[in-house]
Amino acid sequence: MPAAADDRADYRQYYGQLKDQPLPVSRATGRLLYMLARSVCARNIVEFGTSFGISTLHLAAALRDNGGGRLIGSEFESSKIKRARENLAAGGLSDLVEIREGDALETLARDLPDSIDFVLLDGAKMLYLPILTLLEDRLRSGALVVADNADASPEYVARVRSAANGYLSVPFADDVELSMRLGPAGN
Ligand SMILES: C[S@@+](CC[C@H](N)C(=O)[O-])C[C@H]1O[C@@H](n2cnc3c(N)ncnc32)[C@H](O)[C@@H]1O
Repeated sequence: MPAAADDRADYRQYYGQLKDQPLPVSRATGRLLYMLARSVCARNIVEFGTSFGISTLHLAAALRDNGGGRLIGSEFESSKIKRARENLAAGGLSDLVEIREGDALETLARDLPDSIDFVLLDGAKMLYLPILTLLEDRLRSGALVVADNADASPEYVARVRSAANGYLSVPFADDVELSMRLGPAGN
């Protein structure tokens, strides 16, 4: 497997080489996602980096158990989207999930809910900060953002750990950065 740091050089090529790999969140992180999405009563979730949809299953299950909602996922490998849709169908969760095909920098730049409750960042690490910036105005107060393998994105970690930017943030188990949106920057 190519070194994770390579995703900073050419993320499309890097993930293209890994298109047959599920690259899932850990079992513990999957459970954490379910628990967190339940605890903030998430109804609108955005996921950057769907792959085979393992994290998506945990988040969509939380939506179902919260009474319904919508998860917008993103993935540029079409074969992975097919696998993710099969997994979601097997789990009876398809009706809660829309997976947008293409680069998330484009697919998550449009047609989003006015208020987002929960975000998972799990795509190319060099895009964590640009993707957060795309979504930021829609994060409701108290929204949670989980960034997997956040240590590979120091600029992202610096942004969310500065209270002046409107977040509370802590490193969490399994190399997760857990952040809460407090309000607009400076508040
Ligand atoms: C670590 S995997 C995601 C694993 C998934 N969250 C899970 O737990 O099952 C990262 C995925 O993000 C996709 N990806 C990376 N950068 C992307 C981008 N800019 N736009 C869309 N998909 C991207 C890759 O193709 C890869 O499948």
